[in-house]
Amino acid sequence: MKILITGGAGYIGSHTIIEMLETTNWEVIAVDNYSNSTEDTYERIEKITGKAIKYYNIDLKDKDATHKLFLEHNDIQGIIHFAAFKSVSESVANPLMYYDNNINSLLNILACQKAFKVPYLIFSSSCSVYGNINELPVTEETPFNKTESPYAYTKQIGEQLVADFIKVNPALKAISLRYFNPVGAHKSGLNGELPLSTPSNLVPYITQSAIGKLSQLTIFGNDYNTKDGTCVRDYIHVSDIASAHVLALQQLIKTPHFPSQSIINLGTGVGVTVLEVIEAFEKVTDKKLNYTIGERRAGDVAAIYANNDKAKKLLNWKPIYTIEDMMRSAWKWEQCLNKK
Ligand code: UFG
Repeated sequence: MKILITGGAGYIGSHTIIEMLETTNWEVIAVDNYSNSTEDTYERIEKITGKAIKYYNIDLKDKDATHKLFLEHNDIQGIIHFAAFKSVSESVANPLMYYDNNINSLLNILACQKAFKVPYLIFSSSCSVYGNINELPVTEETPFNKTESPYAYTKQIGEQLVADFIKVNPALKAISLRYFNPVGAHKSGLNGELPLSTPSNLVPYITQSAIGKLSQLTIFGNDYNTKDGTCVRDYIHVSDIASAHVLALQQLIKTPHFPSQSIINLGTGVGVTVLEVIEAFEKVTDKKLNYTIGERRAGDVAAIYANNDKAKKLLNWKPIYTIEDMMRSAWKWEQCLNKK
C-alpha cells in the first residue's frame, strides 16, 4: 500500500514516517517544501529505520506540481496531510501567509484525493480550534469558541473543508486528528523538532536555552487563572502522536463501517503548566534553567487539555509516554544536534 505523507520532513511527519516504516509494510512517499525543515530529515529517518523512502520538494500551493505528483503515483491509497504553517504567534503577525498556505495546500490535496480516488485522508488539526474554553477537558463535542489566532482559524476552516468535501464524496473517508501539544523526540535521540529559526514553541526553547544556544527563557505570563498562574497545556509525546496516525489509517482500511468522517482528539488527558514543564525538564536533566516571567503572548489560550476517550475507543490507541519521557527525549535530541 502506498501512503503519501505531506510535510514529511517536518517534526510530526518524520516521526510518523518512522513509525510507519517500523510497524507496517506500507510504501511511503513524502513531500515537503522545506519551509520549516530540511532534506536531512530523510537521512535521519534512514539511519533510524534502515529504510530509504522516495521524497519530493513540492509546494502544495502549486496546483500543477501537486497534480503531477499524483499522476506519477496514481496508486496512492492514503494521504496524511501534515504540511502547514504552525506558529500561533507568526500567524498573528502574518495572517495572509497562514490563510494562503494552510488553506490552498489543503484545497489542492482534496482536489487530488478526488481526482485520483484516494480512499483515505488523515488531516492534521489542532486543539487550538476550541479557542478559550471554560469547561475542561474538551471532548470532540465541545463547541468551537472564537479562535485566538489565524493559525487556529485555518484549522477550523480545514476541518470544515474536509467535512463538506467528504459529505459529497461517499467513496472517500477522512479523519481529522486534533493534536494537543506534541513535544519530545524519537527515543534514539536521532530525530526531533528542528525549527529553522528561533523556536516559538516551549520545549525547543527550553532545550536550546539549556544547551546555551539561547540565553534566557521567558515564561509568557504568570497571571492566568490556573494553579500556578502559567498556561496549562496537554503535552503529548510526538511518538504517541505518530502511532495514532498509523492506527487511524489501519482502522480506516480494515473497518468497513468506520465512519466516513470523524474528528478525534490526540492528547494525554493531563493538563500541565509551563512551570511544571520546566520542573520536569530540570528533574530529568539535572540542569537549572535560566528563566524570567514576561508578558502574556498574543494568541495564547489560558488552559486546555483533552478528553481522549474517543481515540482510545475508535483507534484502540493509548499514549504511553510521560512528561518526563518527553523532556528526556527532547534533551537527548538537543545534545545529539550539538555534537554535529
Ligand atoms: N511558552 C512560554 N515561553 C516560550 C514559549 C512558550 O512561556 O518561550 C508558553 C506559551 O505561552 C504556552 C505554552 O508555553 O503557554 C506552550 O506554548 P507553545 O508555543 O509550545 O504551544 P502552543 O500551545 O502555543 O501551540 C502549540 C502548537 C500549535 C498547536 C497548539 C495547540 O504550536 O501548532 O499547540 O494548542 F496548535
